[in-house]
Amino acid sequence: MGATGSGRVRQRHVEPLRRALLDWYDEVRRALPWRADADPYRVWVAEVMLQQTRIAVVEPVYQSFLQAFPTQQDLAAASEDEVLSQWSGLGYYERARSLHRAAQQLSSQGAEFPREYAAARNLPGVGEYTAAAVLSIAYGEAHAAVDGNVIRVLSRLRRLGLPGSDGEPHGSVAEEMLDPVRPGDWNQAIMELGETVCLPSSPECGRCPVSRYCEAFCAGAVDRHPPTKPKPSIEKVECSMVVLRAERGRFMLERGVFPYLPKMWLPLYEPGDLPDQRSEDVVREIRHAITRWSFLIRVVDRPLSEKQIRRIARGGSGERRIFNPEQLQGIGRSSLLEKALDVSK
Ligand code: ADE
Repeated sequence: MGATGSGRVRQRHVEPLRRALLDWYDEVRRALPWRADADPYRVWVAEVMLQQTRIAVVEPVYQSFLQAFPTQQDLAAASEDEVLSQWSGLGYYERARSLHRAAQQLSSQGAEFPREYAAARNLPGVGEYTAAAVLSIAYGEAHAAVDGNVIRVLSRLRRLGLPGSDGEPHGSVAEEMLDPVRPGDWNQAIMELGETVCLPSSPECGRCPVSRYCEAFCAGAVDRHPPTKPKPSIEKVECSMVVLRAERGRFMLERGVFPYLPKMWLPLYEPGDLPDQRSEDVVREIRHAITRWSFLIRVVDRPLSEKQIRRIARGGSGERRIFNPEQLQGIGRSSLLEKALDVSK
């Protein structure tokens, strides 16, 4: 912090701001399942799941994931299908694959999640945010974790614009504010404030424990910080998929063909090797969004004889497999697969 007038004022406010926010957090913190203890593996799983996914969606999946894989060694020993199956519904499946690979890497060395930032960052899927969150929450190491909520809170506290591509100035402000004694609680307190009080629109400043230290609030400019980001453009995609239904509740699925979820099992995507529409086909339309794509998918549901389905299973450019109902429970089920199989009952 420079020796400017406003710099000195801010410096003076940091200690009372920390105390006010941590006191508030101690009083109102939600009993989220990953807060029960500071086990690095459990914290790590939570922080990976919480990226890009809301707490309400994460909570039940987190619980069953940890029942299936209570330790890092259990996760490392599992197959990729088992891991993806337990990740079903969270989306961004690459996160699960990276977490799995990282657990395997550590377990093969007999190691836990590292305490050193550089070593943590070297693990598959561990970016700046995850490394800082796990190190601070599990080990009490002083690293500021900066996610979207934190950016919004800091933008208001310090009247900042949007961070640049290097994350600045928010990254430096976050490090400077970080409570050196309770960095894990501090990081979670700012996130909690952003999730429950300092909301994107209609923030509840009347309930905010640090409004007196908030430069945007004091200037009556909360609604201008951070400035609204230009919305990423959404691309509409219209396509079709064919649900092939075999006898005894079995389905044929494929992977490696639908370019937007290439590693997930799905109904056949625009197959060129099937006969044209038949009278017993059921056709429906479903809508689905994946990051910046908005899909309108024509789902054709087609019952087939054993002989037909076996023939089709040998074709296609990707991998095709027939699943019985029990096997379907054991693979990663994207929301798109769930929707496509549901509508076609
Ligand atoms: N968002 C991401 N990680 C979080 C945590 N540990 N507590 C609350 N919100 C979060």
